[in-house]
Amino acid sequence: MSDLTSLETDLLAQIEAASDETALEAIRIAALGKKGSISEQLKLLGSMSPEDRKTIGPIINGLKDKIGDALTARREVLKDAALTARLARETVDITLPLRPNPTSEGRIHPIAQVIDELTAIFADMGFGVAEGPDVETDYYNFTALNFPIGHPAREMHDTFFFNPKEDGSRLLLRTHTSPVQVRTMQAQKPPIRVICPGRTYRCDSDQTHTPMFHQVEGLVIDKTSTIGTLKWVLEEFLKAFFEVPSVEMRFRPSFFPFTEPSYECDIRCDRSGPEIKFGEGNDWLEILGCGMVHPNVLRMSGIDPAEYQGFAFGMGIDRIAMLKYGMNDLRAFFDADVRWIKQYGFRPLEVPTLFGGVSG
Ligand code: PHE
Repeated sequence: MSDLTSLETDLLAQIEAASDETALEAIRIAALGKKGSISEQLKLLGSMSPEDRKTIGPIINGLKDKIGDALTARREVLKDAALTARLARETVDITLPLRPNPTSEGRIHPIAQVIDELTAIFADMGFGVAEGPDVETDYYNFTALNFPIGHPAREMHDTFFFNPKEDGSRLLLRTHTSPVQVRTMQAQKPPIRVICPGRTYRCDSDQTHTPMFHQVEGLVIDKTSTIGTLKWVLEEFLKAFFEVPSVEMRFRPSFFPFTEPSYECDIRCDRSGPEIKFGEGNDWLEILGCGMVHPNVLRMSGIDPAEYQGFAFGMGIDRIAMLKYGMNDLRAFFDADVRWIKQYGFRPLEVPTLFGGVSG
């Protein structure tokens, strides 16, 4: 009897002390399993006298039930505790702000946006895109564009030259996108209709000039294009780009060695309000240089000027970006200030198209 009492006390203490379900299962097997301590006691019943069996039988069975109940109760407690611990471990703080994803945070730089816009507009008029290197030779940047050696127009470009090579020639950072005209005429047969957007460099820096800036060149070579065609192309471009129903342009005679005649083109605008408006007002804003491609340039590029003719124009991309989107300091374009790009940048998935509105 006292054996059974101490077995009960011992088992109950073990059950109480079991710290997890595995430990509890080990206790169950040790007590109620085939060779468990209680099962061994039950086996003894067979060899007992009927009287003893009558008195001890219920006690052992009672002990078996009691231990069974204690195991079940403890298992419930341990299960609850395990669940509570797991819930605590796996908590999610739903008040934490979401980490922003790249497409909602990132912005397209206004220059990239404007290049996409003007590419879409010119593509609609049948223009392809041509590119050339930023590091150019003197030949492509000047000579092939009909700048005579020693001509003062070369000096007007504030060129960044590299150190001279042994043979005396010097590479330079292209001062305009016009060398791409020459490269395109050498590579393609007329009819040619391309724009050439890209980086250009001049040693200059103030509110409206940076040493690196962007231009877009336009070049059309065929047998029939005239100044009239040029005016139409530019007018269509300016209307689409500034998203206005009409623009008024003024062409002033100018000089570029690679075009003849040459013009500077101004557009009518109104600067009386806080924002500049195009197509109305009494002010004129210079916007681009243009002209008919000089016969010498055609000839040097392998095109017969007796057969072909055409026009070219060059425009500052940064300048038209500032005009359209209202920035006032060009230098900020290249400061890489995240706050600036947040304010003036464009959402990456809003790609400019003619049907969706070029400014997205
Ligand atoms: N390349 C000229 C400039 O940078 C612009 C231009 C391009 C003028 C094409 C006429 C024709 O000032």
